[in-house]
Amino acid sequence: MSGMPARDELLAAYALPDRDTPRLRMNVVASADGAVALEGRSGALGGATDRRLMQVLRAMADVILVGAGTVRAEGYGGTRVSEADAEWRVARALPPQPRLAVVSRALELEPRHPFFAEAVVRPVVVTCAAAPAGRRAVLAEVADVLVCGEETVDLAAVRATFADRGWTRTLCEGGPHLFGTLLAAGLVDEVCLTLAPRFVGGDAQRIVRGAAEADRRFALTGVLADDEGFVFLRYAAR
Ligand SMILES: NC(=O)c1ccc[n+]([C@@H]2O[C@H](COP(=O)([O-])OP(=O)(O)OC[C@H]3O[C@@H](n4cnc5c(N)ncnc54)[C@H](OP(=O)(O)O)[C@@H]3O)[C@@H](O)[C@H]2O)c1
Repeated sequence: MSGMPARDELLAAYALPDRDTPRLRMNVVASADGAVALEGRSGALGGATDRRLMQVLRAMADVILVGAGTVRAEGYGGTRVSEADAEWRVARALPPQPRLAVVSRALELEPRHPFFAEAVVRPVVVTCAAAPAGRRAVLAEVADVLVCGEETVDLAAVRATFADRGWTRTLCEGGPHLFGTLLAAGLVDEVCLTLAPRFVGGDAQRIVRGAAEADRRFALTGVLADDEGFVFLRYAAR
């Protein structure tokens, strides 16, 4: 065990290479028995270092991408980075706060939801041509709406659209269906997985859903632990 990894240690351990190549990194937490949520929320599985790591990964991101299921299940929003992280970003010629983007076809999200109402930078809705036009108009009042794909959101096109805007560092915070779609499309460059020292049982899902079974091999590129028993694994796509 290594005490509680400090912010500086995490910044060094999770540093990213050059900005030129688009990179998508997943950050997920699971219980030791593989559950993605406790009482429907992933935050309930986490700990102090996990929260610190989440802040550090957000500080490094141009855009934080989440699935609409997570936004609906977790009241997800209000993801402001700390003053210190905002300063860290500005010193690296980044805007003080990363942008938030949600992936959805149904667009069953309300403008008063914290995702929009508490956003510190105008958020982004990533959708497809088949999305309901009325819902699109409603959300266009509170977010930039990007249409990528016809029947479903084409996540490779999303990556290209983000890169056109200079957003080459995408942090994806789940959930399992979005992770599964990205993985199946070969779009995940890195996975940051926190293993919580809890065995919760129940019927919670695994961290990847909806991707056909395949032997997708990643390289283990980092291992940290804290004195609460959490383990922080970093994997890179081969
Ligand atoms: N342990 C963790 O780290 C972690 C992280 C995040 C979430 N979670 C948990 O996961 C659960 C939610 O899981 P989930 O799998 O339902 O959520 P999700 O992956 O966040 O959201 C799924 C939704 O995203 C949209 N979507 C994803 N890919 C799409 C595509 N290619 N085209 C169009 N739409 C797409 C769809 O939204 P529409 O239905 O709006 O079309 C789909 O229903 C919650 O319990 C949450 O607490 C855990």
